[in-house]
Amino acid sequence: MSTRLTIVVGVTGGIAAYKAVGVIRALVLEGHSVHVVATDAALRFVGKPTLEAISRNPVATDLYEGVAEVRHVAIGQSADLIVIAPATANTIAKLAAGLADDLLGNTVLASTAPLVIAPAMHTEMWRNPATVANIATLRKRGVTIVGPAVGQLTGADSGPGRMVEPQAIVVAALSTVGRRVSELPVSDAPGARQDLEGRRILITAGGTREPLDPVRFLGNRSSGRQGVALATAALARGATVTLLAAHLDVEPPTDVEVHEVGTARELESAVKDASASADVIIMAAAVADYRPLEVREKKIKKSKSGERLVLELEQNPDILAGLAASKRPDQIVVGFAAETEADPSALIEVGREKLARKGCDYLVLNHVGWSEGFATERNEVVMLRSGGDIVMEAFGSKLSVANRILDIIASR
Ligand code: CTP
Repeated sequence: MSTRLTIVVGVTGGIAAYKAVGVIRALVLEGHSVHVVATDAALRFVGKPTLEAISRNPVATDLYEGVAEVRHVAIGQSADLIVIAPATANTIAKLAAGLADDLLGNTVLASTAPLVIAPAMHTEMWRNPATVANIATLRKRGVTIVGPAVGQLTGADSGPGRMVEPQAIVVAALSTVGRRVSELPVSDAPGARQDLEGRRILITAGGTREPLDPVRFLGNRSSGRQGVALATAALARGATVTLLAAHLDVEPPTDVEVHEVGTARELESAVKDASASADVIIMAAAVADYRPLEVREKKIKKSKSGERLVLELEQNPDILAGLAASKRPDQIVVGFAAETEADPSALIEVGREKLARKGCDYLVLNHVGWSEGFATERNEVVMLRSGGDIVMEAFGSKLSVANRILDIIASR
């Protein structure tokens, strides 16, 4: 295969079609030849001139244009890779049924290239048994499904259904044909190395929530992005990954075993169940230190006379400290600490104290603030080992930070 791939990007009719422009642009900037096949519905969301300018090629839409060159099959036959982003519920149903009533359907049917789709739709449509069955059918046929992500949808609703960000689609799509995105360091590219093959890694991610009453909880701002990046990177390096997920804002990779947990105590029991078979345990979740002493059966009502509300909290178990105290000598336990200490040397001191108190093998330390650390795509960390030495400092995407952390673990 030549360095330059011929990639067909199918764009279908959802609001996320505007983000397809980012996918096309990233693939073009990677040096590939990109041919857009847009459905009529897609062109209601994003203009043909935009798609042509960004892809640097004419955009095909009509089944009955270019009939003399048998274009309905020629596009698919020439493709090294087909990426459909966004893939609507309707397109997914058509792909599952093998329909060819438009140019995109014909292109897919006429092609033997890997097919990668990035679903985007409302949560109800994603969870509808028809869509669930269609996705299962496509998966069985070897189609790579990227996402959807969990988050804010077009209306006021939120949940699984958001199209995954363009860069992640590009990374996933290129990895199906053994390519990586040049912007990523070599070790960040999926499949670039297999130094964790045969290792079982348990990762906790997200933030626990402690209920106060049926409608309220005490929570934190952790999005789970760093934990999911660790799971993604570990999987790509050959590990078997179990993810204990506490309220993630992002979708974990499909090949990871995911157990959802709500509270700190639920996380503790899930960690107890899963840790015995793990070689490495990475506690990236933000765990609530306290829970309400009493969980009210009914919604707490506002005081009519303006009195203050006092909540009594009791401490949650320290899962990491418990784990570190009872671990087998061959297990590696990694803790995380998100601290608001701004001074770098004071931050390291806080980290050293915490590492000693928790008794884990490593502590990954980062600075957080009102606008730093949470829900962002980038992170800056210092990794300390038992005893307090700095073993690694990293700054960059959460995926590249995850790989630097795994480099240290793999080197043990
Ligand atoms: N952690 C845990 N159980 C808890 C609290 C935290 O396992 N009840 C883990 C986290 O997953 C993280 C590490 O301990 O890996 C550090 O979390 P942090 O909240 O920073 O530690 P605390 O013990 O809460 O320390 P402090 O409140 O003094 O900052």
